[in-house]
Amino acid sequence: MATAVDLIVYGAGQLLTLAGSGPRCGGAIGELGVVVDGAVAIADGRIVAVGTTSEVRDCYHAPCEINAAGRVVLPGFIDAHTHLVFAGSRQDEFERRIAGATYLEIMAAGGGIMSTVRATRAASLAQLVSEAQPRLRRMLAHGTTTAEAKTGYGLTTADELKCLEAIGFLNRSQPLELVPTFLGAHAVPEEYAGRAEAYVDLVVNEMLPAVAERAQSMQRSSPHQPLLFCDVFCDEGAFDLEQTRLILSAAKALGMSLKVHADEFAHLGAARLAAELGAVSADHLLCTPIEEVVAMAEAGVIAVLLPGTPFGLGRHDYANARTMLAANLPVALGTDLNPGTCYCESMPFIMALACRFLKMTLAEVIVASTVNAAHAIGRSLDLGRLQPGFMADLLILDAQDYRHLAYRFGANIVQTVIKRGQVVFSPS
Ligand code: NIG
Ligand code: FE
Repeated sequence: MATAVDLIVYGAGQLLTLAGSGPRCGGAIGELGVVVDGAVAIADGRIVAVGTTSEVRDCYHAPCEINAAGRVVLPGFIDAHTHLVFAGSRQDEFERRIAGATYLEIMAAGGGIMSTVRATRAASLAQLVSEAQPRLRRMLAHGTTTAEAKTGYGLTTADELKCLEAIGFLNRSQPLELVPTFLGAHAVPEEYAGRAEAYVDLVVNEMLPAVAERAQSMQRSSPHQPLLFCDVFCDEGAFDLEQTRLILSAAKALGMSLKVHADEFAHLGAARLAAELGAVSADHLLCTPIEEVVAMAEAGVIAVLLPGTPFGLGRHDYANARTMLAANLPVALGTDLNPGTCYCESMPFIMALACRFLKMTLAEVIVASTVNAAHAIGRSLDLGRLQPGFMADLLILDAQDYRHLAYRFGANIVQTVIKRGQVVFSPS
């Protein structure tokens, strides 16, 4: 007798399961685990069974079935790096950069991150939430079912907690799941100009204990509240290597998982530091030397590559993904969604860039946006794959071949988005 489940998606021309375990690198990064005429059975928001349509329908029945009609079905995308909570926008700076000013020049003149910090400090919690909501809707419509979300535009204890609060509220109030990261060390705020050490002291001794305490109390009230990461922008014009080491070590001592913005503009050694401290990921990596790539691979750090950022800045230097993959370093992708360098909400667009400028294959960019991105946000056990026990987060594309994902760009080919077994986006 067939077992009752909540939902069956069947008739997928290509069902990409990405079945297996662990992050993918080396030759395995191209393996998508394709089932032809595939189906998925879903109960209580989780995947119960995966197989061919006849296998699944012989064993399960559901009150609701979706016919994928020969289209591609794959896991929902995981955006491994975003700064999606911010107030205002910076189109004026974009115009200045087109005219020749550089990102670091604009930042040194008091613009850049600080201009968003001023707007974010002035915004209420409700305003931050309502400005982020349409971004989340667009991300979801483009297939992102889970995203990492950083603070970092508050830069006072109260304003960083407000940004964390906004992330927590958004996580509970709409379908796209958010994994929070504290990025109090995003910039030295203007009131600390020339006193970076004093700001680092504030981050270590006041902000980190406050956000760790808030995260723990959120976890006590909601067991599903995800863990909190700590990140530092280690770069020229931001935090140097020693400051980064101090902050990340303090976060680690408080039980937080670590990430770092490494080698986005200048090489300061942050990728090696990520390996030393056992960070979960190091992100950007535009100018990381091979020895540090190897150190990351040996330490099990995931490389989160963000090709939207050099694209957004009109730069021509992209991360050397092929060297990383050859060194067996697992590569994940993210948008880096932020109002300065990369106002992009679409993972398929990032995948299109990664194929062209990082020279990644179509299969590699799919792995990097699902399995490996799940590892980069500490969710490898329930996200990024279509296999029994995993969250039922999946997409139906308006295409019959998965290669259409990055081959086509500029229009959305995500047709249906299912998060935890519920249809959350489906164009009429
Ligand atoms: O990842 N590098 C630091 N943070 C962002 C830029 C933030 C901004 O300009 O507002 C990035 O590129
Ligand atoms: Fe970033």
